[in-house]
Amino acid sequence: MKRNILFVDDDTNILQGLRRMLRPMREKWETHFATSGQEALELMARIKMDAVVSDMRMPGMDGPELLHRVKREHPDAIRFALSGYSDQEMVGRSIAPTHQYITKPCDEKMLVEALEQAISARELVPNKTVLDRLARIEHLPVLPRVYNRITSELAKGDPSPKDIGDIVAQDVGLSANILKLVNSAYFGLARHISTPQQAVIVLGVNVIRSLILSLHVFQSFEPAGRQSFSLPLLWAHCMRTATVARTVAQAEGLPREQADHAYIAALLHDVGKLLLDAQCPDDCQRVYETVRQSNRRVADVETEVLGLTHAQVGAYLLGLWGLPGQVVHAVVRHHAAEPDPAQLSIAEIVYFANLLDHDIVVFNEHYARPTAEPARLEAIGGVEKYEAWKAAVIAMGVAAAVE
Ligand SMILES: [Fe+2]
Ligand SMILES: [Fe+2]
Repeated sequence: MKRNILFVDDDTNILQGLRRMLRPMREKWETHFATSGQEALELMARIKMDAVVSDMRMPGMDGPELLHRVKREHPDAIRFALSGYSDQEMVGRSIAPTHQYITKPCDEKMLVEALEQAISARELVPNKTVLDRLARIEHLPVLPRVYNRITSELAKGDPSPKDIGDIVAQDVGLSANILKLVNSAYFGLARHISTPQQAVIVLGVNVIRSLILSLHVFQSFEPAGRQSFSLPLLWAHCMRTATVARTVAQAEGLPREQADHAYIAALLHDVGKLLLDAQCPDDCQRVYETVRQSNRRVADVETEVLGLTHAQVGAYLLGLWGLPGQVVHAVVRHHAAEPDPAQLSIAEIVYFANLLDHDIVVFNEHYARPTAEPARLEAIGGVEKYEAWKAAVIAMGVAAAVE
């Protein structure tokens, strides 16, 4: 089935350019073009669009206003904003209704990839009712501004750690949190890091970016009234799992980028729990009660009660945000029974990092300790491999990082 994608820009030259640029996609996409917000809404009333990509500065109804209306009237449409460097104020106004920002002038490959990934993210949620509910989440966390700025800096070329550090440093609260984290036991660094610039040099831009993301997601959910589980415990579990994943990736000699992906995926592997708790608190309460009473796995009970798992929901959010495909894939598979057919993949590392953390650190005795699926254990080389990883993790002192 072809996807309907709508592009909105008052500059017809830009629309022409997009039309030309996206010609190779015509087998898969039906592209539509509108020169104003009004025209876009009229088109959307007739044709169900999978995604809307809108310019920010337009006479009459501007980008933020259009995306707000799209969110209200067509909540399941994916919403992208195309923004120039001078549109900071508008970006601020459009944060709530926007899934992703694409910086102008945009690169064809990047735009196509981002759209394809966001569209396929929705397929991760098989349950239509829950998908509708998720699409309507008022507080679906959006990518933090600092993250967007770093991403566009990376897209421009090869920024120095100082450039990245400077962006982080502009947000005083965020810098303080990042410094607190990088100096915590999770990282086990030999020396004290005192500036964001140093943090970028020591840990790399990808790790810093993922810490920004996870701090942001966890903070977005902090004020939520009822919680079926402890937020600090989940946070600690995610931080440790990330460190475990990186340790395993390094032990296996994976290149830096792969190790970074493993780290990011592990750090964010359980964000779906936060989303589900915010959106269906009563159902989640039931899920966790059942889990505690009958000592069953969270993902199994979620499937029974909600028709999907936190793994799918988390991957859905990360896909909408445009995180790398490998990261999304690893998140969706972190409770699956079957191994990834690829050789030692990020998905396997994240799966075992999660297990290792539950194995080494018992943070709630009422939960069933997960055991490895035989097929996945076999895929990494059996129990010896698992024990070797466990020894490496214990040697790293990751478990000692429990506060
Ligand atoms: Fe999980
Ligand atoms: Fe987990």
